[in-house]
Amino acid sequence: MSRANKWGPYDVVAAFFVSKSIRFLQQSSILRKLAAGPTVHEIASEYGYDETLLSVLLEFVHQTSDILIRLPSRDTRSRRFKLRAQYSQYVSLEFLLDKFLGAYGKPFDYLDLSLRSGRSGRRFTEPDVLAAALGRVGNNRYKRHITSLIRSLRVNRVLDLGCGAGHLLADLSTAIPRFEGWGIDSNARMCRFATERLKRCSATAYVRILHANIFSLKRLLTSEVRRRIEVIYAGSLLNSLFGGPRQTMVTLIAELKRLFPNRLLIVDDYYGKLGFVQKNPNRYLHSLVHDLVQAFSGQGVPAPSLQFWRSIYRDSRCQLVHCYEGETDGLNWFVHLVQL
Ligand SMILES: C[S@@+](CC[C@H](N)C(=O)[O-])C[C@H]1O[C@@H](n2cnc3c(N)ncnc32)[C@H](O)[C@@H]1O
Repeated sequence: MSRANKWGPYDVVAAFFVSKSIRFLQQSSILRKLAAGPTVHEIASEYGYDETLLSVLLEFVHQTSDILIRLPSRDTRSRRFKLRAQYSQYVSLEFLLDKFLGAYGKPFDYLDLSLRSGRSGRRFTEPDVLAAALGRVGNNRYKRHITSLIRSLRVNRVLDLGCGAGHLLADLSTAIPRFEGWGIDSNARMCRFATERLKRCSATAYVRILHANIFSLKRLLTSEVRRRIEVIYAGSLLNSLFGGPRQTMVTLIAELKRLFPNRLLIVDDYYGKLGFVQKNPNRYLHSLVHDLVQAFSGQGVPAPSLQFWRSIYRDSRCQLVHCYEGETDGLNWFVHLVQL
């Protein structure tokens, strides 16, 4: 691998200052205001900040990242910076800041403790910050590819394991007539966001959100409900099990097979890269960061290839019937259709 692809000492130092600066701009709401391109003078007056210092900070963010544009100005008093249009959508920038720096950043403030075990790091993570971040993401196109896939299967009763803020169930409620859904999540805040989101959706759909652990499905869903469910979806859920023994995943999928025989399980997740790829690390920056926070939140670095997942399905006595794979924003995602 060429050294030129890697960050040198100045990149590393600059990354520290630029990420602290951008996080501050976000939390103070200045980032939002920059979407309209106010003058530095106006922002400094509103917040009581020193105009020269604020200008230096914004100039540094502008010079080192592609997040801010400097607009032409006649003099220093009319100097203005604008948030690049593509970042004014919550998902394209603020979601990443909330997720990676907000929910998963703290273990890195306490590395001396976090390095002792994945469990030590986990206690510094902030799942409620992730819940709030997911809660803020609108429905629009978030899970459209999965919604289309489920529609194409011509089913209308879906169980969503680790349903998060309920995006998929909301999309399905709108897309499928007489839709029936069950969402399970162990995070109470996620469940509240999901319930709120679903209230705003189709009145003809029937969806229940259950605050519970997916490892207690048998107790949670009556045999009558289990019989009704046609498809089980697990989106970005199984990646959280890589911090524990491989057998946990096998046991879980084998249990799904026992409870939902012959139904389809959709596993929507990503292949890990940290420690597995050496070439072109910049291409997989998103994955590398994701893998890092996975490890320090006790979730472990996900397996890098289909081979691992095939062995899991085989050991659970299930069969992989179809596999979609792709790469978006440096994340090597996959969708596996597994016959239980
Ligand atoms: C990364 S989020 C993904 C949310 C959603 N499926 C999506 O694709 O947007 C993972 C979700 O799984 C939930 N989760 C993790 N382990 C769980 C468990 N053992 N039982 C229930 N929910 C769990 C988390 O609370 C979180 O909401």
